[in-house]
Amino acid sequence: MATKEFPLVPQEVPVVETKYRTIRTAIPVPESIDLLKKLRDLEPRSMGGQPPVIWHRGDGVCIHDPYGNKWLDFSSGVLVTSSGHGHKEIVAAITNMAAQGMYHAYCFPTEIRGKLVAELTRLLPAPLKRVFMLTTGSEAVECCIKLAMTHGRKVGGEGKNIIVSFDNAFHGRTMGSQLAGGSPGLKAWMSEDSRFVQVPYPDGFRQKDTGFEVFEKAMGDKGVDPDDVCGVISETYQGCNACLMPGSYAQSLRKWCNAHQAVMIFDEVQAGFGRTGAPFGFSHLGVVPDLAACGKGIAGGMPVAAVLGTEELMSIYGPGEMTSTHSANPICAAAGLANLEVLRKEGLAENAAKLAPVLAEGCRRITKAADGKIGHWDSTGLVGALQFTKPGTTEPTPAPAWEIVHRAVGSGVMLFAPVGVGGCAIKINPPLIINKEALREGLSVLEEIAGQM
Ligand SMILES: Cc1ncc(COP(=O)(O)O)c(C=O)c1O
Repeated sequence: MATKEFPLVPQEVPVVETKYRTIRTAIPVPESIDLLKKLRDLEPRSMGGQPPVIWHRGDGVCIHDPYGNKWLDFSSGVLVTSSGHGHKEIVAAITNMAAQGMYHAYCFPTEIRGKLVAELTRLLPAPLKRVFMLTTGSEAVECCIKLAMTHGRKVGGEGKNIIVSFDNAFHGRTMGSQLAGGSPGLKAWMSEDSRFVQVPYPDGFRQKDTGFEVFEKAMGDKGVDPDDVCGVISETYQGCNACLMPGSYAQSLRKWCNAHQAVMIFDEVQAGFGRTGAPFGFSHLGVVPDLAACGKGIAGGMPVAAVLGTEELMSIYGPGEMTSTHSANPICAAAGLANLEVLRKEGLAENAAKLAPVLAEGCRRITKAADGKIGHWDSTGLVGALQFTKPGTTEPTPAPAWEIVHRAVGSGVMLFAPVGVGGCAIKINPPLIINKEALREGLSVLEEIAGQM
């Protein structure tokens, strides 16, 4: 969680001029300070915490401020703009739909929604069959929780209402999604809810034993009767790291869910649509969940989310009983359809798979250069995470993580503020259109900075 602000004091930085990066001013830019201050004064403090750069224009893997500076984007916003910034096919889809005068259609049928759900369902492995369009990842997670709880009541009565999730999980910031989250600090504003139980996530770092027995033991230790569990939800890789759930663990979990009539839910909000080098994170695990919550990378930057589900679960509620005002808003749906076409035509999941070893090697080199400050790194596809910890422990040390973000931004590489346990992880997740040259350039910048700290 970003709990600090970068200072609004312009600092002189060396001039940078490459194909992908231009830094010509002090950072933050002196002329930007008034706007940055205004935002700090008028918005909740929670909107702060990101590097003090005005995002103005995007093209491909680069973002520009209004003052002539250009950054190589290693953030994709927050893992959203997989097809890059300002892709011409997405721009055309948005402008054409806007020109048609169709900005909003609620749940009334539209051609564009029909095309989008047809394209999405084509990607689904059986038994996933239906798609429910929503707006945010948290909303998709809430919907999955509601369907699992409703299904639980149906098959096991009122007491079958426990949702199991994982330590350090992040599922969003609305009430249900946060209850399912695995960071106690983020839900300190609510009373404890015994229907939400967390178990260790098999990341191989904070939880060394990645066997499924740990899941069963944790449930026993917490006094949970498996038959009271209505659903188990997990990210396919956790946002605070980039570590996919081990396949054997996921397969045991699948069997466990079947045995106890619990709905298996994967949160694919970050991992879905090519980020891991495959259509979904679960594509690597040898299992298919009953429900998947998707968002972020579906629509090239427009607010689109979706729940993917089985016939049985998606038929629980009748007409008009599960709706959302902006469900597949026509402009967003047009962007979504164009984005899916770009992902397919340009082979962006394949590009993520092809460049995965380059990112992994970069993470390894940055870790080596950091000389003991990075306790653990993971990467999968085009997402990497480096966790700064006290040497030999898992204790977070956020200060060097913030320092590396600060210096990277001053050098023309855009990262978002550190995330994860104690704010100790920096994430590297460029648009999936990136090429080897640009990826290597940004990774070398980070390696150099890590070596100077
Ligand atoms: C794994 C995961 N799930 C859910 C969410 C929530 O998505 P949104 O911010 O669109 O509500 C996020 C957002 O970061 C996420 O990373």
